[in-house]
Amino acid sequence: MSLKINPITPTIGAEISDLNLAEPLPLETLKAVQGAFSKYHVLVFRRQTLTRDQHKQFARQFGALHIHPSKRNGLNKDDPETFIIDIKPAAIQSNGEPWHSDVSCDSMPPSASILYITEIPENEGGDTQFMNMHAAFDSLSPDLQTLLVDRTAFHDGEHDLKHYGIKLRPDQEYPANSHPMVTAHPSTGRPTLFVNPGFTTHIEDMPKWESKMLLDGLFAYTASNPRLQCRVKWAPGTVTMWDNHSVQHQAIFDYAGWSRYGERMTVASDQAPAPYKP
Ligand code: SIN
Repeated sequence: MSLKINPITPTIGAEISDLNLAEPLPLETLKAVQGAFSKYHVLVFRRQTLTRDQHKQFARQFGALHIHPSKRNGLNKDDPETFIIDIKPAAIQSNGEPWHSDVSCDSMPPSASILYITEIPENEGGDTQFMNMHAAFDSLSPDLQTLLVDRTAFHDGEHDLKHYGIKLRPDQEYPANSHPMVTAHPSTGRPTLFVNPGFTTHIEDMPKWESKMLLDGLFAYTASNPRLQCRVKWAPGTVTMWDNHSVQHQAIFDYAGWSRYGERMTVASDQAPAPYKP
């Protein structure tokens, strides 16, 4: 089965045409999509019309659905599998503005995220940027790679919530976990730089200032390096699927006064991130 694939940049992302995600994919097609996902890390499907159940059914072809921590701790018990992005005209920020991989604070951070956007701002904008973290690691010097391999960093959900001015009540909990800084991708074994400004607070077993210097440097270098990135422009009916094991993303809030709506299904992982062993 060969798919119609249009790469977005040489480093990351591809548009796949002529697939109807509302119907279960035949096995051969599913395998082809999985192959493309492994190669491009971000897949974009245009002109889709999905009910919420069809969206879930598409996502379940890649694994069981992940439940977001905000739906686990009593904040919001509605349809726990659906993560809603509902930005109103009065909003002063959007979800997912800092570079991050989804819920990296979980003990087993989710694998794929699948976002279906049905409403976009009327004055343009609301794109999402993606960054290939295999390429980010590969682009570091061998000396810096050696320094990072075998280290762990701390990912804290409360750190992410602070970006949105959210404070947990004393009776609420959010996940916080240590993960290897350089992980081996669960399907390909390729090394990934697994730290992000959204969730990562510090490198463990290292003086605070050295941890800050290294993380600030890595975040600034990756965020300002367009060679690692692609940018997806949405239209109502666009579905984008990204691999949180190899990709970070950033939602761009450049549409104050307008609305944007989408629903995300997120595929759970059944293992903690494994350290990369060169
Ligand atoms: C997210 O899943 O972090 C949000 C992405 C987006 O709204 O484009």
